[in-house]
Amino acid sequence: MATSLITGASSGIGAAFAQAMAVRGDSLVLVARSQDKLETLAQQLRQQHGVRVEVIVQDLTQDDAATAIAHAVRTLNMTVDVLVNNAGFGDYGAFCDGDRTKQLDMIRLNILALTDLTYQFLPGMIERQSGHIINVASIAAFQPIPYLAVYAATKSFVLSFSEALWVEVEPFGVKVLALCPGPTVTNFQAVAEFPDSMGDQATQLAMSAKTVVAEAMEAMNSSVPNFVNGGPVNQFLANVSRFIPRAALVKSIGQQFRPKG
Ligand SMILES: NC(=O)c1ccc[n+]([C@@H]2O[C@H](COP(=O)([O-])OP(=O)(O)OC[C@H]3O[C@@H](n4cnc5c(N)ncnc54)[C@H](OP(=O)(O)O)[C@@H]3O)[C@@H](O)[C@H]2O)c1
Repeated sequence: MATSLITGASSGIGAAFAQAMAVRGDSLVLVARSQDKLETLAQQLRQQHGVRVEVIVQDLTQDDAATAIAHAVRTLNMTVDVLVNNAGFGDYGAFCDGDRTKQLDMIRLNILALTDLTYQFLPGMIERQSGHIINVASIAAFQPIPYLAVYAATKSFVLSFSEALWVEVEPFGVKVLALCPGPTVTNFQAVAEFPDSMGDQATQLAMSAKTVVAEAMEAMNSSVPNFVNGGPVNQFLANVSRFIPRAALVKSIGQQFRPKG
């Protein structure tokens, strides 16, 4: 049976990954900051599915968080076959009005932790000639988004990095997938402090985390470098940048996202 390590497993898409991977019998390592939520989920999954579930409480914005996790996994005598780099957050508003620490933590979490965790676990997968890495990007990865400037840029990194690795490691039997959900019903919108009007709009289009993950579980076994969740609206949003001049596109997105009032 495979062992899957999921970051951001305490809620939303990460918790849905934990559920889906427990259903198929994986041993699990759940990572996030909220110990109570992780322990509750772990206990539920052990009882319902009879799988091994370990919890690592870790703030992934901390220096050497990935090294600490790799060390904890070795101590547990586990080998990671599937790494789901899911933990992430956004922050809505004009870049200069945003909190400096929050913007930098976003880069530390969405980019640095994801990159370092990949660096920790990918060599073992290459050596064993098998493994999966799912990096959770977003449809925000496909174009700049004014008023979500840092967030969209971090997700562009995730998409670009994952697609490049997809080519590098394919000969070794390892698969890398950039998962690109559109709006999904989770705590994301609240954490990003979207205004109610924008949150409501996103909620109307939103998928459930369970459906996002069900689609991801199918996509991870195909040989594609990225997967855009959902139907035609998300596909359109992910592809529109190929057909509209970049300046016009970014201006139009800026109008849509500019804080009202
Ligand atoms: N929801 C959407 O509309 C949407 C769309 C596209 C992409 N995504 C992406 O999907 C991923 C999952 O987000 P979600 O929608 O499921 O949101 P969520 O419900 O807010 O979950 C975020 C997860 O990340 C963890 N996390 C946050 N900061 C952390 C830190 N410093 N260290 C360790 N863990 C941390 C949180 O756990 P703790 O607070 O317990 O640490 C939580 O488990 C993110 O990468 C997000 O960018 C979401």
